[in-house]
Amino acid sequence: MDTRRRIDAPELVRLLGRWAADEGPLFRALARSLTRLIQMGELEPELVLPAERELAQRLLVSRSTVMQAYEVLKSESWLASRQGSGTWVSERPPGNGSHSAASRPPPAAAAADSTLFAALAHGATVQVDLTVAAMPALDLVWRAYREVTDAELTELGKTVGYEPAGLPQLREALATHFTRSGLPTTEDEVLVTNGTAQALTLIAHSYLRTGDRVLTEDPTCPVALAAFRQARASLVPIAAGEHGPDPEAVASAVRQTHPQLVYLSPGFHNPCGHVMSSKRRAELAGLAARWQVPVVEDLTNADLVLERAAPPPIASFEQRAPVISVGSFSKLFWAGLRVGWVRAAAPVIARLARIKSVADLGSSLPAQLHGSRLIASIDEARMERRCQLVERLDCLTAELTTQLPEWRWTRPAGGLSLWVRLPNTSGLSFAQAALYQGVAIVPGAVFSVTQAHDSYIRLTFGQDPAVLTDAVRRLSRAWAGVQPHELTPRPAWFATR
Ligand SMILES: Cc1ncc(COP(=O)(O)O)c(C=O)c1O
Repeated sequence: MDTRRRIDAPELVRLLGRWAADEGPLFRALARSLTRLIQMGELEPELVLPAERELAQRLLVSRSTVMQAYEVLKSESWLASRQGSGTWVSERPPGNGSHSAASRPPPAAAAADSTLFAALAHGATVQVDLTVAAMPALDLVWRAYREVTDAELTELGKTVGYEPAGLPQLREALATHFTRSGLPTTEDEVLVTNGTAQALTLIAHSYLRTGDRVLTEDPTCPVALAAFRQARASLVPIAAGEHGPDPEAVASAVRQTHPQLVYLSPGFHNPCGHVMSSKRRAELAGLAARWQVPVVEDLTNADLVLERAAPPPIASFEQRAPVISVGSFSKLFWAGLRVGWVRAAAPVIARLARIKSVADLGSSLPAQLHGSRLIASIDEARMERRCQLVERLDCLTAELTTQLPEWRWTRPAGGLSLWVRLPNTSGLSFAQAALYQGVAIVPGAVFSVTQAHDSYIRLTFGQDPAVLTDAVRRLSRAWAGVQPHELTPRPAWFATR
């Protein structure tokens, strides 16, 4: 019996990410991306690759493109094949960068779904990028930067510079901000992190052992899924309802699966843009208190209001509930600040601070000093962002309504993304078609615990209206080439390269 591990075509397509954005003929671009995956150890020695026809269908390219790419890799000894046994990664791939079977790290495939993460990590470019839910910095970010005085910096420089739990001024400013917003908080209940991404990683590290269960909405944010998968947790999906997940469904899943953590995005949900009602927040807080199950509420998008402000955090509804709130300045101010936070009971924060001290000894202090100044501008920033978001969402939906009338979505209540349903079409395959038209989008399956939601795509609308208009033009060209029910490409896809 053949015991070698196999990778199926959808998984490989996800790993390949934006391969088609590379220069030159398609088979060369594909060969380069496959080589890179082998060099990084994502495709391990002896891993059997999908058959040419199957991969070609998923990539929406001709079979000869895949065949030629495989041939290039075989000629360079990255791949091997035998009639009847398929094509696999060589036992000993060439080059110093490759990992031997014994020394290689575990493939990050499951952890870092590269449709999103590889493009960020490798800087792959496309003409129009609708994958990242973030916007350029507001001017007030730099105003606050200039307000930091020399005297403050000199004073800061007198410390040794390691503050794993965060700069005291910022912890205090965040605590005051939470208290004023209805969530009484003290400085020792706040930890500063490098964005929400690190907050989630630290929490995963602190709470999860291999095989532990995490209950999460489906679909949900890939950054969270990656953090939990990296901790080798087992993910249990619950449907992400328009007003938040059904508390009864959560209660029954908790009873049946005994999760170590529950992860929720009460608002604004990424990717759907929903906001959880106050009633649901109160019910879920009550549940967490009764069962003493830690609930992580992700408030990263909470300030990106399109209609009405979101209700107060889940943590504010029940003081006895073990709720861990996380968030950051990334969406409201700028992701480049890399300032985020955890708000939880003091002993939880103390434990997370210890883990953070091992991870990086603490975040940049000047960035935190700047961050402590920014808190005073939160209301102003919310208003500015709201004007930008409404204009851009209106532009995107108007263009879609005109050019792609078959597509379906629910207008988001907040956030930066539109969750679009494609009639009878795989989002994973359509994302390839879109790439050939120079626009990058994220397929719905990336947001799923179970790879469900394949008929969805996520479009972000943080870009300028002119870019969004161009994007929809490209998407509609891509759509014109995809036959519903039938994902075989038209020759136009590969005619040019
Ligand atoms: C719900 C959610 N959580 C976490 C993150 C990561 O954000 P940060 O830049 O704060 O690490 C994002 C970014 O897209 C997000 O939407």
